[in-house]
Amino acid sequence: MKQYRVLLLGSGGRESALAWKMKQSAKLEKLFIAPGNGGTEQYGENVAISPLDFAAVKDFVLANNINMVVVGNEDPLVEGIYDYFKNDPLLKETAVIGPSKEAARLEGSKDFAKGFMARHNIPTAHYMSVDASNMEEGLKFMSQLKAPYVLKADGLAAGKGVLIINDYDEAVASLKEMLAGKFGNASSTVVIEEFLSGIECSVFVMTDGKSYKVLPVAKDYKRIGEGDTGLNTGGMGAVSPVSFADDKFMEMVRTRIIEPTIKGLQEEKMVYEGFIFLGLINVEGEPKVIEYNVRMGDPETEVVMLRLQSDLMYLFEGVSTGTLTERTIEIDPRYAVTVMMVSGGYPESYPKGKLITGWEDVTKTILFHAGTKMTEEGLVTSGGRVIAASSYGATKEEALAKSFCTIEHVKFEGKYFRRDIGFDLK
Ligand code: AMP
Ligand code: GLY
Repeated sequence: MKQYRVLLLGSGGRESALAWKMKQSAKLEKLFIAPGNGGTEQYGENVAISPLDFAAVKDFVLANNINMVVVGNEDPLVEGIYDYFKNDPLLKETAVIGPSKEAARLEGSKDFAKGFMARHNIPTAHYMSVDASNMEEGLKFMSQLKAPYVLKADGLAAGKGVLIINDYDEAVASLKEMLAGKFGNASSTVVIEEFLSGIECSVFVMTDGKSYKVLPVAKDYKRIGEGDTGLNTGGMGAVSPVSFADDKFMEMVRTRIIEPTIKGLQEEKMVYEGFIFLGLINVEGEPKVIEYNVRMGDPETEVVMLRLQSDLMYLFEGVSTGTLTERTIEIDPRYAVTVMMVSGGYPESYPKGKLITGWEDVTKTILFHAGTKMTEEGLVTSGGRVIAASSYGATKEEALAKSFCTIEHVKFEGKYFRRDIGFDLK
């Protein structure tokens, strides 16, 4: 059996969950995480390298005989880490789990993603892309839409580049501000979109560019406050499965969205060996694409990995050798939930360095560290999202009860979490 020496890039709860799952595989010989966090040492060795420092990644890969790189977050993908490896004679045999730079534009450029969906008849909101040269036409398009108005910075804007505005005049002013550089270069092009009304879910697909496997569907909770109120965060919790994503809905997702996406990638000769994350919205029973991401979701990974029974390394091997079609995927029928413990003040300013206690002897829940750091004094907070508490249950409620019980036990000053994760699902 071929074994892998893996370098996982990233430092969040998503990477903790990927590392936890890879660690269970007999195909894993050795795991390194760059840069990792205070919890990832349970699964492998942390290395102090930035995922965006490709030269440092290269040196580490060569020095440690790494034969697979798994890319957790989007930035290195959008910056072209896949191509960097494949164009280097010393690195090209190393498997890279992720899309090529061209394909990563599905996340890196909203305008590109909308154009791709239009070319392949993939259901999504009507839109128009606007820059300084056609702002007047953009305003005309917007005046024909109904409120609220959706304005999206074309480029990556750390999850903050989407504005949803009720008032037309305010939307006009915001469009002008965006084009004038509100989000820097990321908003020199703005996508104006029709507002879609419905409930959202996240569908994850693994592809080797030819065939695909669908991972468990999840729903995340992005707002800081209960009842989905307040500021947007990186994600406060997630649930899987999602009650409305039933067989009928998923059949539409497969035929109208996933298959045209894979076919579109092939037709446009975009190399893709990784995860496709479809941010979907259920509009009166029909799925439409809100966005593509080219990686797994966070905190969705913290429930998806619990429900994936198959060996993740065996699937990664299928992705990187173009043999995914021969591999099977087994899903755990149980519910999985995750509840994120965050630092008080997040997503605005918050303190760091708070001592975390009660995390070592947790048994009924899996703790996926995100913003934690190990110090001589013990484990301390080092980010807004601190630790995700993931649990299984026969029902969503049973799983949530376990996570809440664990959260009572894990303590740090200022700890906050949402008690209503999953509230809007059956
Ligand atoms: P995005 O970064 O494209 O995922 O947008 C962030 C969030 O804005 C999404 O998760 C949705 O909740 C919301 N959103 C984006 N586009 C639309 C749309 N066309 N209609 C309604 N809500 C949207
Ligand atoms: N949970 C949404 C994301 O990872 O973008």
